[in-house]
Amino acid sequence: MTDTTWFTDARFGLFVHWGLHSLAARHEWVQKHEAIPTEEYGRYLEYFDPDLFDPVAWAETAWQAGMRYTVITTKHHEGFCLWDSDLTDFKATSAPASRDLLAEFTDAFRARGFKIGFYYSLIDWRHPEFPVDQYHPHSEDELAKAEPRDMGKYVEYMNGQVTELLTRYGQIDIIWFDYSYNRPGVWGGKGPDDWESENLLKLARDLQPGILVNNRLGIPGDFATPEQFQPSNPPTQDGEPIVWEACHTLNGSWGYDRDNHRFKSPDLLARMLIDSVAKNGNVLLNVGPNGRGELEPTAVERLSALAGWMRLHERSIRGAGASDFQAPTDMRFTQRGNRLYLHLYTWPLKHVHLQDMAGKVAYAQFLHDASEVGLKWHGGAVHSQLEDSSITEDTLTLIVPEQKPDVLVPVIELFLEEA
Ligand code: GLC
Repeated sequence: MTDTTWFTDARFGLFVHWGLHSLAARHEWVQKHEAIPTEEYGRYLEYFDPDLFDPVAWAETAWQAGMRYTVITTKHHEGFCLWDSDLTDFKATSAPASRDLLAEFTDAFRARGFKIGFYYSLIDWRHPEFPVDQYHPHSEDELAKAEPRDMGKYVEYMNGQVTELLTRYGQIDIIWFDYSYNRPGVWGGKGPDDWESENLLKLARDLQPGILVNNRLGIPGDFATPEQFQPSNPPTQDGEPIVWEACHTLNGSWGYDRDNHRFKSPDLLARMLIDSVAKNGNVLLNVGPNGRGELEPTAVERLSALAGWMRLHERSIRGAGASDFQAPTDMRFTQRGNRLYLHLYTWPLKHVHLQDMAGKVAYAQFLHDASEVGLKWHGGAVHSQLEDSSITEDTLTLIVPEQKPDVLVPVIELFLEEA
């Protein structure tokens, strides 16, 4: 088993979707959505000139937001490569950009302290030997569908490209393959037998011992990748907890999508991260830089809001995980050693009752300012004639102010009594 400690410790990463689709600026699946023929789509290559690309600035923004690893699309489904691949001309060095953008990105992020992950699309709408299927932009084109295409040659290409990626850029910590869709109802759908996934997995592990591989080759990897949803419970396999990472967009699109303003609010983003950690998972949060190489203002603003929260609350996220204690409705516990972190999604009136915790907590404070939070035992908070069966001898009551602290999600740090 590969050691996943750094990964489950980091908890929060930056996903980057950047490529020619950033110029179309209307979703990274634009080529499929609009059935743009490969040749016509290829003209974006002539205009890809990210003159404002500043990976040092991206890395700083992400670091401040509390992210400690990154995964970038080296090649998305469109087939365009951010690096100087020897195996195709459909790459950054053939565009006006005329440099290895992946190298610049990797150097900047690694220098800032990030672990480096490469996303590599198994799907390739550009490659002449990639058989047309239902998800292909040419899926309605009878001539293209009838063309004989040699999957073996495409598999060879993938192996060559993965070799380039894993030998030219120093230590690579994650390879994030995307994706398998050999499902009923999808004609031409491709999966592990088509990709020859076992070989790709072995290649990755041979070239980069210690690399983490996701599960989208369609065979078990090192971690699972729920996409744009939060599992309701800590995911398991055969009853055992598994390593997992939820990947999320800011606005529903992975690639730069100019007219899409459906950005998630800062507090929702914070809650998504907390929810993952409370279930032993990570979050890989995406940005879609534009064609000039900049992160859009709303993305920067969201990341800065998270930075504000993470500066004060990192302790409840980094190195933390699920707790065996049950949090009340609308709250989440994370735990690291003997510190328990109560995240309050909604603000209660004066009291938080924690079941089965009487006598187990030595001290409590708000995490953002280390101000003491009062503790009461024996249901002491209720001072009325009302009977409240949820408050028993075992209930620990926290006394909180009427005013919600001015942070996205307040956190109370509970110091557990040494067992
Ligand atoms: C999907 C999409 C893709 C995106 C990815 C991220 O598989 O095809 O556009 O890159 O999910 O998880």
